[in-house]
Parts: sequence; structure tokens; C-alpha cells
Amino acid sequence: MSAKTVYFIEGDGIGPEVWGAARPVLDAAIEKAYGEKKIEWKELLAGEKAFKETGSYLPQETLDALAAAELAIKGPLQTPVGKGFRSLNVTLRQTFDLYACIRPIRYFEGIESPVKRPDLVDVVVFRENTEDVYAGIEWSSESAESKRVIDFLVGEMGAKIDPTAGIGIKPITPAGSKRLVRRALDYALDQNRESVTLVHKGNIMKYTEGGFRQWGYDVAEEEYAGKVVKEGEEADGKVIINDRIADAMFQELLMRPEKYSVVATTNLNGDYISDALAAQVGGLGLAPGVNMGDKLAIYEATHGTAPTIAGKDMANPGSVILSGAMMLENNGWGDAAALIKKSVEKALAAKKVTVDLASQIAGAETVGCKEFGEIILTNL
Ligand code: NAI
Repeated sequence: MSAKTVYFIEGDGIGPEVWGAARPVLDAAIEKAYGEKKIEWKELLAGEKAFKETGSYLPQETLDALAAAELAIKGPLQTPVGKGFRSLNVTLRQTFDLYACIRPIRYFEGIESPVKRPDLVDVVVFRENTEDVYAGIEWSSESAESKRVIDFLVGEMGAKIDPTAGIGIKPITPAGSKRLVRRALDYALDQNRESVTLVHKGNIMKYTEGGFRQWGYDVAEEEYAGKVVKEGEEADGKVIINDRIADAMFQELLMRPEKYSVVATTNLNGDYISDALAAQVGGLGLAPGVNMGDKLAIYEATHGTAPTIAGKDMANPGSVILSGAMMLENNGWGDAAALIKKSVEKALAAKKVTVDLASQIAGAETVGCKEFGEIILTNL
């Protein structure tokens, strides 16, 4: 990336505040690291702001721009209340087939954590974003649809199901699994990560979760020969691919987090694991994230719109700032990203932080969203 166009969506609730604090940090870090280089920011409207200006929560102009874009960063978007509104986040993910949700989770010194050695956590979770029980194929108990499905399963497939059961369908495909695992392996190779762990519940759900495991190994064998080895084989600097059953993995991540580096997993497992790991290192306030397809990546804070503190200059801009750093790192501007991460560490060490973090750092002084952003900027 030399001079890149990045689209931004401010977002709802605390979105404008955290974005307002984050953008100057990103610009200053790039300037400090490279002098001439810079990001050309272009705003796109979505959410409340879009509705006020255009009458639509997700205007066609925004969709058209994203269809041609490679990089975007967004604040949180509120799901409009009322019938017939789908979550804007889900709409964006589905429209642009952003199939990989990537969340790096690491510890920041000084933050209170529920475990003894949070510093041992340095894991990047690749969560499949389009399949699994999230496909939205489900019918409520006693509905005409669920009765029809149950009749079919009992009558024609010989299944045993209580007639009052609610029904949900869990589709997982070879193609969907492989493209996610490919992404995780590429990342591990690119970032010199030690291993990629396939996390699944294949002992119980053989043809969905078990399929994911098998297709993950298949893609490693078919496309990464000579670069990736299976656990137990001589690693010799190559990336190790292994797998763990989800319940065992939760124990492992608590007891031996240092053994794990990159996790590739199905949608529901990934949802649980990324939040559990974030809690393990002291909460969601600083967790960055990205939803990626083959062409477009939308970086975003992992938290929501925090309506109760919106407009009060209380929100923590750390998650958006670190999402921006991740964007820089993934696009060849790693020096700027490193500066930002160091600045955040320094700000935490100085114990002048937003209220959410202050409650987790002994002896900390509370500052507002804007001031916290300025402290990080000054630390650069
Ligand atoms: P939330 O993340 O907005 O809030 C959960 C708790 O964390 C609240 O106590 C809030 O004050 C606090 N919090 C969140 N971000 C914070 C920050 N940066 N600094 C300080 N405190 C922070 O989750 P909630 O309440 O479930 O959702 C509110 C709205 O956000 C909903 O409309 C939901 O749909 C939307 N949402 C959007 C997401 C996105 O755009 N990716 C993700 C999650 C929720």
C-alpha cells in the first residue's frame, strides 16, 4: 500500500466519537513511520446518519462504493428497531461475502484479567462467517414448517424427533470450510506463526463439524505441500496444522494458551472462542476485528454502539484504533501498526484511560474518549 483509499463508516451511538479519536492516531502513525505516505479517507453513509440524510439505512451509493472497494473501516452499527429490518452488519457480511471474521487476541500489560497468566495469550481466531447454524434456516416449535420438516425426517429418513421440537439447520460445505482454512494458513505463513489449529465438534456432528476438520486437512495437503506439516511430523520451520475438539480447546486455551497461535473454526465455535479469549485477556474494550472476503475487507470495532454512553465522551476508542492498526499491518504498513500498538501499551502503563479500562486497572485515572485518543497520539 503506498497511498491507499480507505472508506470509512462512522457508525451509530459511540461510533462518531471513537472514530473521531481514532482517525488522527492512524494518520499520525503513518506520517511518523513513512513521512510521505498517507491514507485517503472517503466517508460512506450507513446507519442512522445515512437514514437522516438519504432515507435509507444502507444507501445504494454505499453498497456501490463497497462493491468496488478493497479496504473499509467501520464503527458499530445499530440494528434498527422495528419489523422487517435485518442487521446492517449481517447484510454487509452477506452482500459482500465477507466469509472470514478475524480477531487477534493478546494481552495488554496492566489490565486486570480473571486468569493468572493472560500474557501467554497471543491467538488469532479465524471464524467462518457465512455458514453453520447462522445460515438462519430455522423454524419454531409447533410451526407448520417445523412440522413439515419433522414429518419428512421421521417418515422418509427414519429419524426420531419429538413432534414439538424447534428445528435449526446447520449447513457446512467443503468450499466454505476450505476457503476459511486457506485464509488461516496463508496468514500463518505470512506472519511466521507456528501453528494452525482446526477447532470442531466432529466427534458428535460428523458430517458438518467433522467435515470442516477433514476439508481443513485436505486443503493443507492439496495446496500447501512442503509448507505445512501435520502435528507429530518434523516441523523444521514449517507451519503445523492440528485439530482439537471444541470442548477440549476451551480447556486448552485456559490452561496452555501458549501452545496455540492461529485458530480456524466454524461460525458458532468461533463466536464462543473469540469472546472467551477476549474475556481471558481482560475484556472486549481493546479487541480489534475484521470481516474479510476475497476482495473486500471491512475492519471494525468488536463492540456495539453502547447507547447508554453515546455522546458523553466516555467511550473507549481502543478497539477501532487497534482495528486500524491491524488494517495497516495486513496491508504492508506494519511499522505504523507497531507504533500504534506501542502507544496503546504506553497509554495503559500511564494509567490514564477511559472509564471501562479504569475499572480494570488498579490506581487508574479516568479520562474521556477524546483525551484518551490524544494520549495515544502523543505517545506516537
Ligand atoms: P455493546 O457492545 O454496545 O455494549 C455492551 C456493553 O459494553 C455496554 O455496557 C457498553 O456501554 C459497553 N461498551 C461497548 N463498547 C464500549 C466502548 N468502546 N467503550 C466503553 N464501553 C463500551 O453491545 P449491545 O448493548 O449488545 O448492543 C448495542 C447495539 O450495538 C445493538 O443495536 C447491536 O445490534 C449493536 N451492535 C453492533 C455491532 C457491530 O456493529 N459490529 C456489534 C455488536 C452490537
